[in-house]
Amino acid sequence: MAEPLKIGIAGLGTVGAATIKILSGAHNELAARAGRAIEIVAVSARSRGKDRGVDLAGYRWYDDPVALANDPDVQLVVEVMGGAAGSAKALIEAALAAGKPVVTANKALLAAHGPALAALAEARGTTIAFEAAAAGGIPVIKALREALVGNSVRRVSGILNGTCNYILSRMEAEGLDFAQCLKAAQELGYAEADPTFDVEGFDTAHKLALLTALAFGTEVDGDAVYVEGISGVTPLDLQMAEELGFRIKLLGVAERTAQGIEQRVHPTMVARSGQLANVMGVTNAVSIEAEPVGTITLVGPGAGGGATASAVVGDIVDLARGNQVATFGRPSGELEKPIRAPMQRHEGGFYIRLQVQDKAGAAAIIATRMAERGISLESILQKGREAPRNANGSVPVILITYATTELLIRNAVASIDEAGVLDGPPQVIRIER
Ligand SMILES: NC(=O)c1ccc[n+]([C@@H]2O[C@H](COP(=O)([O-])OP(=O)(O)OC[C@H]3O[C@@H](n4cnc5c(N)ncnc54)[C@H](OP(=O)(O)O)[C@@H]3O)[C@@H](O)[C@H]2O)c1
Repeated sequence: MAEPLKIGIAGLGTVGAATIKILSGAHNELAARAGRAIEIVAVSARSRGKDRGVDLAGYRWYDDPVALANDPDVQLVVEVMGGAAGSAKALIEAALAAGKPVVTANKALLAAHGPALAALAEARGTTIAFEAAAAGGIPVIKALREALVGNSVRRVSGILNGTCNYILSRMEAEGLDFAQCLKAAQELGYAEADPTFDVEGFDTAHKLALLTALAFGTEVDGDAVYVEGISGVTPLDLQMAEELGFRIKLLGVAERTAQGIEQRVHPTMVARSGQLANVMGVTNAVSIEAEPVGTITLVGPGAGGGATASAVVGDIVDLARGNQVATFGRPSGELEKPIRAPMQRHEGGFYIRLQVQDKAGAAAIIATRMAERGISLESILQKGREAPRNANGSVPVILITYATTELLIRNAVASIDEAGVLDGPPQVIRIER
């Protein structure tokens, strides 16, 4: 058997401890699969005394993760500390500068600094593996970067944040509002004390930026992602979605269009019969539409120690076997500068919920403002079990449009709002056919 691969692990939290459990528990089996043993030689975290449920006695301890990267005995560095900059970035840069491959779960860091880090890796003849950074346990990075390399990808869409999917699933099943379901998610450990990053869509955006780069051979462009979270979705929207044959999901969508590459994260009406609509709770899913293969949907756990460590260990074993692939699937010089498709030119159907005052002519104003912009309506609904008439007599009116552009919808809704016939802010949710 070949010489063992000696690794250092920086970060001993949920993912780091679970990674150690797999590497030590399945040590012999992994050695047989990799053709060489994988030996942890060094670890780093902030507090040395903390019980992490794993035996750290045999490993060198570093308070400073950069020192771990520079340990001459460490041949591969696992970064599972987190953070879009700071120590995690310094650690990865030090490892790459020393020509050591890096395995990371850090989507925030790669979404912000992916191109520069990939170029550094390449200059030093090494790579960054990041299966754990998008959709946790689902092997979507490997699918896009390796297994589907013979295809031309048209579209990638997915449910990439378990917290949001859990909240929306529960809101729908129990008719509860966003705040109640967020609280339940926090009690169950599915949501952080500060949930902004998850519920406002930023976590999904980071993951989507990585998938986009792999799907389209472009430089990671995290700033180009249009982001809207789920905090504005109401029980009435979920109820109306059901009546109309939809379900609301927070989707990340990356698509090649005539205008360039669209990257968007927002609550989305999807047909109830579709695959993504039926992914419930904390589960994640990614659909890849490509030629010639067709559509592939991968479904599974997107977070949690075991699922994420499964992806980390997959990357470590890949590198132990000598399978070194360019970070984003092709040499940095071959990655295209992405052309951003402006969100205003996004085309699709829309769900519009208006709380309309009981005024003569209100319906005519709405119809005129839509018609003036050439927006055709597929259906108009004026009901809602949980939203009876307000005290002042206003009622929710739901409009479903045929395909049109974001710009026209925004203009039409703004002009209806300005006409003074609404009682509350309009709701707009995009429909994905
Ligand atoms: N948890 C998941 O389900 C999941 C899923 C996919 C991806 N990820 C990604 O995986 C990474 C780790 O997540 P996690 O949930 O395992 O985080 P976590 O439980 O908070 O653990 C973070 C670990 O990093 C250590 N650390 C933080 N800053 C450090 C520093 N400056 N120097 C040394 N050690 C430092 C902490 O040390 P102490 O323990 O001493 O405080 C802790 O052990 C993040 O990038 C996250 O986005 C997580």
